[in-house]
Amino acid sequence: MADLSISFFSLLLPFFSLSLLVFLAFIVRPHPVKVPIKNRHVFITGGSSGIGLALAQQAASEGAKVSILARNIGRLEDAKESIRLSTGRDVAIFSADVRDYEAVKKAVEEAGPIDVLVCNQGVFVPQELETQDIEEIKFMIDVNLIGTFHLIKAALPGMKNRADRGPGSIAIISSQAGQVCSTFGSSINFNGLLFHSELIPSDN
Ligand SMILES: NC(=O)c1ccc[n+]([C@@H]2O[C@H](COP(=O)([O-])OP(=O)(O)OC[C@H]3O[C@@H](n4cnc5c(N)ncnc54)[C@H](OP(=O)(O)O)[C@@H]3O)[C@@H](O)[C@H]2O)c1
Repeated sequence: MADLSISFFSLLLPFFSLSLLVFLAFIVRPHPVKVPIKNRHVFITGGSSGIGLALAQQAASEGAKVSILARNIGRLEDAKESIRLSTGRDVAIFSADVRDYEAVKKAVEEAGPIDVLVCNQGVFVPQELETQDIEEIKFMIDVNLIGTFHLIKAALPGMKNRADRGPGSIAIISSQAGQVCSTFGSSINFNGLLFHSELIPSDN
């Protein structure tokens, strides 16, 4: 009788294990979350030119409260004016270098709680590893990677404690070069962050 029970349970064990795996896969499956931006605070780094400026323009035209951060104050003011002309909306501008954590923290605190953070700043100095100056490599890592950590670390407490309990979001824009492996290998792998994370409020 004991032998019969043991073989019965050993037959059931794989079935339970498989069911558990299917259940866990169902729980952790990726699922799209729509993050509304109308009347919500969208903070975009590198927002004074290129992709960042285009994102800022789009977010403003969709009714978001937009903040942009970059280093050069003149280009930030030009961006603010171009967004005002194309959308009729004012954006807040912050001059800071993402490599400077204290400056980033100050800008983020002044901007107020962020609903959507877009870490878009990026620099890329294309060179082969053998010929690239080590300072250029460090520069790219500092701006693209460490700068992004600075931004998220500075913004997270405010994002988690927002009075607005709607979904928040952090997006990191990577360089296309970060998604391929080439002779530019020295300067790409840290650029290869392509990350999007939703902050969904929970009550715990
Ligand atoms: N262009 C492409 O084909 C392409 C393709 C794929 C991905 N990307 C990625 O998309 C992002 C934007 O690219 P883009 O071509 O639009 O760039 P971009 O026109 O060169 O603009 C870069 C922005 O980042 C700011 N920035 C640079 N260094 C900074 C620093 N240390 N602190 C704060 N802000 C800084 C710049 O302003 P200041 O110089 O005034 O600071 C500027 O606003 C980058 O992350 C890039 O890797 C670009």
